Amino acid sequence: MGARAAPARGARVEAHVRFWHTTVGKKAVMAVTGLLMVGYVVVHLLGNLQVFAGRERVNAYALFLKSEPVLLWGVRIVLLVSLVLHVAAAVQLAALRREARPAAYAEKRPTVSTWASRAMLVTGAGTLAFVVYHLLHLTWGVVHPAFSHEDVYGNVVVGFLSLPVAAAYAVGLFFVGAHIYHGGGAMYRTVGVSNPRHAGGLQRAAAVAAVVLALGYVSMPIAVQLGWVRP
Ligand code: HEM
Repeated sequence: MGARAAPARGARVEAHVRFWHTTVGKKAVMAVTGLLMVGYVVVHLLGNLQVFAGRERVNAYALFLKSEPVLLWGVRIVLLVSLVLHVAAAVQLAALRREARPAAYAEKRPTVSTWASRAMLVTGAGTLAFVVYHLLHLTWGVVHPAFSHEDVYGNVVVGFLSLPVAAAYAVGLFFVGAHIYHGGGAMYRTVGVSNPRHAGGLQRAAAVAAVVLALGYVSMPIAVQLGWVRP
């Protein structure tokens, strides 16, 4: 029984590896990992919006998350694996596109999809840079003037009292929103070939998600700057 199961598992792994090596496979991995990360961004927004309900509320929420190590580390591992696969697929697809381009163009005329792919790379790099800065700022506190492991409310509000920091978040959140928006377009081009109706829905959903998420997040630095939320 065990002897027969081993080759079957081996064949399955081989099939996954073969799938990863196809362009469609990489695009599918990008779509699934992208959706997982957007799912986190939605839940993270709902958690963070509790700063509007006051210090006790958001700090109790943060304490709850830290008291559930399985949940906390499960989510962190899924996010990290998703990020690595997402970036690896993006880099490899960009390299494949470069290789596929005929060498001698008399005149270089980028098509709609090459512009869109370039926008994805730029907004993706902006999003990644934002996430690194954000972790240094609000998770590790390395670039925060008064970081406390017990006071998430204080970290957020004191952090956003600085105008350059609030502005950096606004720029970063613009990249996040633009990346999610263009991600809908990328899925449209991948899925649209086989099913245009579903693809149109995906693109609209991504546009709505991008605007709602970016505005929801940017409401926090704006509220602190305007003095509506105070330390
Ligand atoms: C105004 C915008 C945002 C605020 C106020 C905010 C707030 C926070 C805070 C307070 C933490 C630390 C939580 C803790 O250690 O207890 C955190 C962690 C984190 N944030 Fe944000 N966040 C914002 C936007 C974003 C966005 C747009 C993303 C993703 C694109 C993101 C991704 C993360 C990640 C991955 C972590 C690490 C989570 C972990 O340690 O498990 N955040 N955020």
